[in-house]
Amino acid sequence: MKIALLATGRIADTQLAPAIAQANGAELWSVLSRDKVRARAFAVKHAAASPQPAYDDLDELLSDDALEAVVIASPDKLHAPQTLAALAAGKHVLTEKPMTTDMASANAMVEAARGAGLRLGIAYHLRWHAGHRALHRLMTGEARTGGGFGPIRHMRVQWPMQSDPGNWRAGAELARWWCLSGVGTHCLDQIRWFMRPHNGEISKLVSVINRSVYDGPHEETAVIAMQFESGATAEMCNSVLFAGPRRMEIYAESGYALCENTLGADGAGRIVTHEGDFGFAVRNPFVGEIEDFVAAVAQGRAPEVDGCEGLRNVELLLEAVA
Ligand SMILES: NC(=O)c1ccc[n+]([C@@H]2O[C@H](COP(=O)([O-])OP(=O)(O)OC[C@H]3O[C@@H](n4cnc5c(N)ncnc54)[C@H](OP(=O)(O)O)[C@@H]3O)[C@@H](O)[C@H]2O)c1
Repeated sequence: MKIALLATGRIADTQLAPAIAQANGAELWSVLSRDKVRARAFAVKHAAASPQPAYDDLDELLSDDALEAVVIASPDKLHAPQTLAALAAGKHVLTEKPMTTDMASANAMVEAARGAGLRLGIAYHLRWHAGHRALHRLMTGEARTGGGFGPIRHMRVQWPMQSDPGNWRAGAELARWWCLSGVGTHCLDQIRWFMRPHNGEISKLVSVINRSVYDGPHEETAVIAMQFESGATAEMCNSVLFAGPRRMEIYAESGYALCENTLGADGAGRIVTHEGDFGFAVRNPFVGEIEDFVAAVAQGRAPEVDGCEGLRNVELLLEAVA
C-alpha cells in the first residue's frame, strides 16, 4: 500500500517512516512538509518511492492517483482537517493520537470515513506492545480463567515526563491538552482496552488537574479516577512537570500484572505477574500498528483501533479537563 506521511517531525522521522519501511505490504510513497526542502530531505532519507515524493501542498499530494493512504503525524489540531481532506480525496487514513481535539470534528471524521467506505485508524501503538498483547490475550481472552487471573477489578497507570513549555503542545493554537495528549491518551486507551471486555464502558470519571507552574491553557499534571459499568475502577496519573518510572498495574480477582517501563516507543520494559517474570520477545509496536492498518484496508475491515475508539478517547479527555 502506497502511503504518504503528513509531517516530518519527531514521530514521523524516528518511528513511523522506519515502521512503514519494515511493515509487510506498506511502502512510503510521498511526504508533506510546510517546507519543500525539508520534504525532499525526508523523502530521500526514508527512500520514498514516488517519482514525485515531496510536497508542501496537501491538495497536490492528495491529487496523486497512485497514492492509497496517508499517515498523519502533524500537531493535534491539524489531524481533523487533514483527515477530512484525505478521505474526500479517496485515501485511507491512519492518524496519530489523539484523533482530534473536539467532538464535532471527531464525529465528522467517523462519518466521512463511513460515508466514503474508507478505513480510519487511530495510532495507539501500545496495542502492539508484544508483552501487553500477550497479557491482554491471557487476561481478557477466552483463556482468562485458565490464565489464573480472573476478572480484572482495577488498573493503575502512571506516565510522567518533563516537557518543554515552548513546544506547540503547551499552547492552545495546535493543542487542546498537554500531558493528556502527550501520554495520557495512551494510558486511557490501555485502560479501556484491558478493562472493557468484562467491565463495560467507563461510566464515571473524576479528575484533579494542576496547571499552576506554567499558568498556560492546558493541564500540566492530571490525576483521573474512573469507574466502569461493572463497578470496577481505574486510575491514571500523567504530568509534564516531572519524570519518573512509567508503570501500568493490572489487578484481577486472583492475580496481578506489573508492567515497568513498557509505556514508550521501543516495545521493551519488564512485566512481572503474581507468578513471576512474564517474558516476551520485544517487537517494534509501530510495525504492528502499520501492518494492522494495511491488513484492514486489504480485508475491508475496521483497523483494530478505529475512529469510534479514538472518538471515545477524545470524549473522555474532554470530560477530564471540563
Ligand atoms: N504514538 C505516539 O506514541 C506518539 C508519540 C509522539 C507524538 N505523537 C503524535 O504525533 C503528532 C506529532 O508529534 P511529534 O512529536 O512528531 O511533533 P513534532 O516533532 O513537533 O512534529 C510535528 C510536525 O508537524 C508539522 N507541522 C505542520 N504544521 C505545523 C505547525 N503549525 N507547527 C508545528 N509543526 C507543524 C511539522 O512538520 P513540517 O515542519 O515538515 O511541516 C512538524 O515537524 C502529535 O499529534 C502527537 O500527539 C504520537
